[in-house]
Amino acid sequence: MKELKFDFNNMLSQAVGSAHGISGKELAAFAHNINRAHKHIRQIVSSDRNRVNLSLEWVNLPFQDKQTVKNIQKLGDSIAAKFENVIFLGIGGSYLGLKAAQDALVPAYYNEFPVSRKNCPRIYFEGNNLDPLTLNVLLKNLNPKKTFVVVISKSGETTETKAAFAVVEPWLKKGAGKFYGRQVIAITDPSSGTLRRKVDKEQAKDKLSFRSLPLLKGVGGRFSEFNMGLLHLAIIGVKLGEVLYGAAEMAKRCASPVLHKNPALMYAVLQFLLYKKKHKPVAIMMPFGEALKSTADWYSQLLAESLGKKYARKIILEPDGTENWLQDLKRIVNTGRTPVPARGTNDLHSIQQNNIEGENDKTVTFIRVEKFRDDLLVPGKGDILSGKYYGRLLNLAQEACEWALVREKRPNCAIIMPQLCAYNWGELLFFFEMATAYEGEFLNVNAFDQPGVEGYKNYMYFKLRKPGLSSKIAEEIRAKPLSKDPRFII
Ligand code: PA5
Repeated sequence: MKELKFDFNNMLSQAVGSAHGISGKELAAFAHNINRAHKHIRQIVSSDRNRVNLSLEWVNLPFQDKQTVKNIQKLGDSIAAKFENVIFLGIGGSYLGLKAAQDALVPAYYNEFPVSRKNCPRIYFEGNNLDPLTLNVLLKNLNPKKTFVVVISKSGETTETKAAFAVVEPWLKKGAGKFYGRQVIAITDPSSGTLRRKVDKEQAKDKLSFRSLPLLKGVGGRFSEFNMGLLHLAIIGVKLGEVLYGAAEMAKRCASPVLHKNPALMYAVLQFLLYKKKHKPVAIMMPFGEALKSTADWYSQLLAESLGKKYARKIILEPDGTENWLQDLKRIVNTGRTPVPARGTNDLHSIQQNNIEGENDKTVTFIRVEKFRDDLLVPGKGDILSGKYYGRLLNLAQEACEWALVREKRPNCAIIMPQLCAYNWGELLFFFEMATAYEGEFLNVNAFDQPGVEGYKNYMYFKLRKPGLSSKIAEEIRAKPLSKDPRFII
């Protein structure tokens, strides 16, 4: 298998100048921090307790037990053989990885054409918004008897997923009858949450109802594609072993202490230095081709939720080596690069103008696929496009963007995927996950929590009168409600 490559030529001062690129000297001056970050991550992942408690268990997912993987593949195959449609309910880390996989690894227009999807079921994603329009249409048009439902929520408490399941469950019950629960799988925490309690209750009545798949402790939502995303991959006919093999090979490369052999570490170092030393707070993620657009969306969540943090991390080290990470309430850092998902060539006719001539405050990460599984030839003669393959034109456009950015001294880099296949996609995801973990070390933040998301949830829960909401929060909202002056609404 050809491996994924990271080309960082255009992040360096020799390409874009010293005001906007990183020099060898700057890399050398940062060597101590690089070694410290690498050592710290290696220490955590080599301790079972730290790995689980600090939510880095995802590093082991590529190497998970083969029998578990086989069982999931079998379960996926059996669902695919029996059902015409599968609805996946979930949001954030319980959705974005699945959507990314769907768009990258199966043919475009998958739902429309049975031959393209090799007769696997049509796939629908719901519960990723509180938008009433989509789910309504879907349920009016699908046949519940021919539809399987997979509800994914690690906490089992997320509003969007809960609301969607509350609508889907009676629809399924009404249409599929008494044993409708046999058409449901719940992927949720093994011991806590409303969804878990529902699973346990239904299972007590009928063992085949509301089956559930194990979620590993210490794997946060956005790092969980190789855990909670596996059933989806199996249902759409992707070989789980190939995705995990790619991830495992990348995991080995990203464990290297040698900067020039460790692509994720190099990516994190360059992004961090460009952010902090050359004022590049905006992260444009621009794969070329439609198939990877959702992978850019997945990365946006990974970067924003992992590294966009108010407080620095405070590490409490126990004598036995156990670490606890707290928010250092005395150190407000308000840090983290801002992700902007895009895709070429589509966005060359939109945000690219700003990338090239707007403020020089960005890095652009391209993802380039060397060989397409299904290329297309432009027919005819006499035009510059005649006789050219789409894949070649796409890659030429990507190369042209690099040239145009370098010309304007704009740092950029390219991740080169030999093919858009399960193996290379597994590598790609693991590369980004590991890079995010390293970048979290440089920023000294906890990359594995998302406390900022609680703010809006608390406000909604207050308004919805959720029992058990902390009285401190309720007091705060009462004392300082959102106030609107009509003079400022025109
Ligand atoms: O990365 C995360 O942990 C979050 O984005 C969650 O995945 C998201 O909030 C959904 O949570 P849950 O799976 O508990 O419904």
